[in-house]
Amino acid sequence: MDAVPRPSTALGTSDEIEALPRGNPLDRVADFPAIPRGWAYLDTAATAQKPRPVIEAITRAYAETYATVHRGVYQRSADMTLAYESARRRAAGFIGGASDEIIFVRGATEGINLVAHSWGGANLAPGDRIMLSVLEHHSNIVPWQLIAQRTGAIIDVAPLTPDHRIDLDAMAAMLTDRHKLVALAHVSNVLGSVLDARRAADLAHAVGARLLLDGCQAVPRMAVDVAALGCDFYVFSGHKLYGPTGIGVLWGRAELFAAMPPWQGGGAMIDKVSFARTTYAPPPARFEAGTPHVVGVLGLEAAIDYVETIGLNAIAAHEAALVRETRDALSALNSVRLFGPEDSAGIVSFAIEGVHPHDIGTILDESRVAIRAGHHCAQPLMAHLGVDATARASFGVYNGIQDVEALVGGIERVTRIFG
Ligand SMILES: Cc1ncc(COP(=O)(O)O)c(C=O)c1O
Repeated sequence: MDAVPRPSTALGTSDEIEALPRGNPLDRVADFPAIPRGWAYLDTAATAQKPRPVIEAITRAYAETYATVHRGVYQRSADMTLAYESARRRAAGFIGGASDEIIFVRGATEGINLVAHSWGGANLAPGDRIMLSVLEHHSNIVPWQLIAQRTGAIIDVAPLTPDHRIDLDAMAAMLTDRHKLVALAHVSNVLGSVLDARRAADLAHAVGARLLLDGCQAVPRMAVDVAALGCDFYVFSGHKLYGPTGIGVLWGRAELFAAMPPWQGGGAMIDKVSFARTTYAPPPARFEAGTPHVVGVLGLEAAIDYVETIGLNAIAAHEAALVRETRDALSALNSVRLFGPEDSAGIVSFAIEGVHPHDIGTILDESRVAIRAGHHCAQPLMAHLGVDATARASFGVYNGIQDVEALVGGIERVTRIFG
C-alpha cells in the first residue's frame, strides 16, 4: 500500500497524523486478494473482505474433505461431522459460551428471528413489553414487530443520549415488570456507539427481562465474552467477521434453549417422527433443521482463527485510531456534520451540507474509495437524526492511514464540486 499516491488532504497538516507509520500497522492488506492496490475499502460494516485463510478453508472443504454431517455412515462424513462440531466448540470459545449453546444460523437476521419466533412465541402474552432502542438495525426491529403482532406484546423504544448512545438512564426509567425482553445493538452499525452491555443486562434482569445483544458490529471489532456481558442471547453474522456469507451464530443460555420449542421443522432436528407424534432433539440440533451450511461453518472457524491470531484488542485499538484520525480530519471541514460519539468503534457516519450521501458515495468511488451511503437499514435512526440517509465509512484490519487520507481527499473533492 506504500506506493498508493497520497491525495492532497487536510490530514497532511496534522502533526499527529504525520507521526503515524505509513501503511497499516497491522500489516494485513496482503492477506486479502480481493483488495487491489490503491482501493480504499471502507464498507466493512456492510460486509468484510475475506482473507486467504478463509478462502483456503472454503476451497479445501469443497475440493478435498466435502461430505454431509450427522448422517453418513462412511468415514468422510464422520470426519466432516467431527470438523463441524469442532467448529462449534471454536465459535463457543470465541465468545465465552459452551458449545451446546451455539446454534448455527444463516446470519444475525435469522438468529434474531429464531429467538423472536421461538422464545417470543412461548414467552410473550398480550400486554407484555419488548424494549428496543432508536438506533437498532431493522433486523432487530421487524422480527419483534412480527411477534408482537402475533402475541399482543407492545414495543417500547429507548431514546439516545445527545452524543448518540443508547440512553440507559432513560431506559431504566421506562422498564417495568411487564418487560420480558430487551434487545439492543452491542455496537451501532451507523454510529459505532458501544453499548454498556453489562449495565443493560443488569437493568433488564432487575425487572425480570431477558437481554438479547445484536453483536454483528461488535465481534469483528472487540473481544466479546457473553458471561462477562451478562446477556441471555447473543447473535452475529460470519460475513462481517471476515468469514463467509450465509453463516452466523446464535448463542443463548442452555436453560433458555432447553425450554424453547423448535421454530423450523425438518431433518436433523428430531428425536422420533411418526404421524401420531413427533419428538425433538435437544439443542442445538433442535434449532438446526435441514442440511447445515457445513462449508460456511468451516469458513467461519477459519475467520475466528484469523482475527484471534491478530488479536481482538489489537484490532480494537487499530480501528479506534483510524476513527480518531477520520473524525479529527472531517471535523475540520465546515460543511461536514459528524454523527455518533467520539469513541465510536470502527464506524464513522457523516453528512455534507447540501450534498446527498449517494452523490458523496459516487464521487468517492471515482477516487477509488468505497463507502456506504443510505439508511443503513436503520430508518427510525435516520428519522431521529433528521436525515434520509448518511454516508458511512467503516474500517477493518486491512485499512491504514492512507485509506483515511484517500477518504478525506475525496470528501474535499466533493465539497469543491458542490461549491
Ligand atoms: C447491527 C446489525 N444487526 C444486524 C445486521 C443484519 O446482519 P445480516 O444481514 O448479516 O443478517 C446487520 C447487518 O448490516 C447489522 O449491522
